[in-house]
Amino acid sequence: MGIYTEQLHRHLQAIECALPTYLPTTDGRAGVTAEAMHYACEGGGKRLRPVLVLEWMRLCGGDPQDALAFACALEMIHSYSLVHDDLPCMDNSPMRRGKPSAHAAYGETMALLAGDGLLNRAFEVCLDPANTAALKPENVLKAAHTLAVAAGYEGMIGGQTIDLANEGKRIDVDTLRELHRKKTGALLIAACQLGAQLADTDADTVNTAVEYGAHLGLAFQIVDDILDATATAEQLGKPVGADEQNEKTTYVSLFGLDGAIEMAKEETAAATTALDAFGDRAADLRTLTAELLTRIS
Ligand code: IPE
Ligand code: IPE
Ligand code: MG
Ligand code: MG
Ligand code: MG
Repeated sequence: MGIYTEQLHRHLQAIECALPTYLPTTDGRAGVTAEAMHYACEGGGKRLRPVLVLEWMRLCGGDPQDALAFACALEMIHSYSLVHDDLPCMDNSPMRRGKPSAHAAYGETMALLAGDGLLNRAFEVCLDPANTAALKPENVLKAAHTLAVAAGYEGMIGGQTIDLANEGKRIDVDTLRELHRKKTGALLIAACQLGAQLADTDADTVNTAVEYGAHLGLAFQIVDDILDATATAEQLGKPVGADEQNEKTTYVSLFGLDGAIEMAKEETAAATTALDAFGDRAADLRTLTAELLTRIS
């Protein structure tokens, strides 16, 4: 994985090992939904959100290992959002992470249930006392609340609503900014925020995590918009040209390719600036922030 330093790669490995163990077993009468849940969470994703959880936990003085359940919970919620995002009633996308989308592999009914199952499983996992014994209970509560808000109406669901309600319409930049801040920004902000919260750090540092996540989230979705217009399906593991086909307003449709690239750079620079207070300790995050931008160069 080109985007991760050695340190972040260690986080990635811990996540890849732990994630399947937090999912249900596939035996029993409802096993097909469990299978689809595993399928939706399997390899091919960058695991950016859980890596951010573990790195913010480390950066703020905690042991990344203690945040693993929350990191995996967040990846489950992200994976569920992708399963539903790909459904015919949403973006109608046949491919995800280099293989058929969950509904293409398991049918729409099971994809819907697998998405619902992942959302609930996320909270089963991060609120299980057996998985959070090393954490302060009030920090578990704060982090679980952060996760619930980010995944909900004020966050990802709200963003998806604005996205889907405005297909075929031209929206202004403020609406597009809100859309991106919620549909993609919310889970990326939550990753940084709850990593800091679990580390038992002070409120100012948690705010710094939020500020970093907000700029990174916006940069990330602008880059996703750019890649949809410029990359190949082989590079991304998902179809390209989907935004134009679905008549979405994106940073590319509103500002052109060059304008969008400029804005992605500005948001990346602002995210990097937010890390200043950490000095050398944030070197890995700085590298990651820069690497995410190089996906478009
Ligand atoms: C895709 O997210 C959906 C967006 C929010 C743009 P990622 O690009 O992080 O997808 P995976 O997890 O690596 O597959
Ligand atoms: C999806 O945004 C964000 C989610 C909440 C899933 P996109 O629709 O742009 O994501 P891709 O391009 O399909 O991965
Ligand atoms: Mg979408
Ligand atoms: Mg989509
Ligand atoms: Mg996209």
